Amino acid sequence: MRIPTGIEGFDELVQGGLLSERVYVLSGPPGSGKTTFGVQFLASGAARGDVGLYATLLECPQNIINDMSNYSLNIPALIKGQKLLFADLGPRMEYGYMDELNEFITPDYNVGRASMESEAPSPSMVFKEIAAYVSEYDVKRLVIDSVSAIRFTTNDFSLQEKEMSRFIRNLKKLGCTTVLLSEMTDPTAYSTEQFAAHGVIFMHNFLYDKTMTRAIQLIKVRGTKHDCNMRAVSFSERGLKVEGYLE
Ligand SMILES: Nc1ncnc2c1ncn2[C@@H]1O[C@H](COP(=O)(O)OP(=O)(O)O)[C@@H](O)[C@H]1O
Ligand SMILES: [Mg+2]
Repeated sequence: MRIPTGIEGFDELVQGGLLSERVYVLSGPPGSGKTTFGVQFLASGAARGDVGLYATLLECPQNIINDMSNYSLNIPALIKGQKLLFADLGPRMEYGYMDELNEFITPDYNVGRASMESEAPSPSMVFKEIAAYVSEYDVKRLVIDSVSAIRFTTNDFSLQEKEMSRFIRNLKKLGCTTVLLSEMTDPTAYSTEQFAAHGVIFMHNFLYDKTMTRAIQLIKVRGTKHDCNMRAVSFSERGLKVEGYLE
């Protein structure tokens, strides 16, 4: 089954949408539109009744909620109706901010929380927390911001690769359509999550002829006919919009 992303101009590129219950990686440099893509994807599902979960590892959810409420995506109402959930899975460092957030953020689970307070999030801790949300709230669309913030429990690169592919294999079994955001600074250096995922999408944001240019590119989308060319991306009041081929 195909899941429309709700991103104008995107679904046409992938035969109508992303395949359900699969794991996609959205990579790009800071400011390229990853968070916007993720929130739009969740908001569009939430508007149709599919519960969406945005799990943050670095940024505090309130910042994302504030920034994204700028768009006419109905974010506050979707949060209120518990169709759009934000979960803070990062190490707790701020003081006292949780008090103001209580009305926005879903309640904590005890799973792994005691250890997460002091440690950087490992793949298994992140997975356990997410799995608890998914079963409690019947989550259908999931965004993790970002896999780059996950800390491995080992320094051995080949073991890190195993940890990451196990993380992604477990996510594939959750029954959600998942978009993993991943920070990318070097587009030629592929990471483990990109190999393990069903699909890889790049967001570009680069200086060309003195102007910043935004683009999106489908690198691989298993089971889907698509091309690999860059397409221009712009922002409208409804979020990201994909346009024609980049000239
Ligand atoms: N109305 C808007 N509200 C917020 N950001 C906007 C808006 N219009 C354009 N932008 C751009 O979106 C960028 C942020 O995109 P974001 O999705 O947070 O990127 P990433 O998650 O890849 O860092 C901002 O740097 C800004 O240039
Ligand atoms: Mg972001």
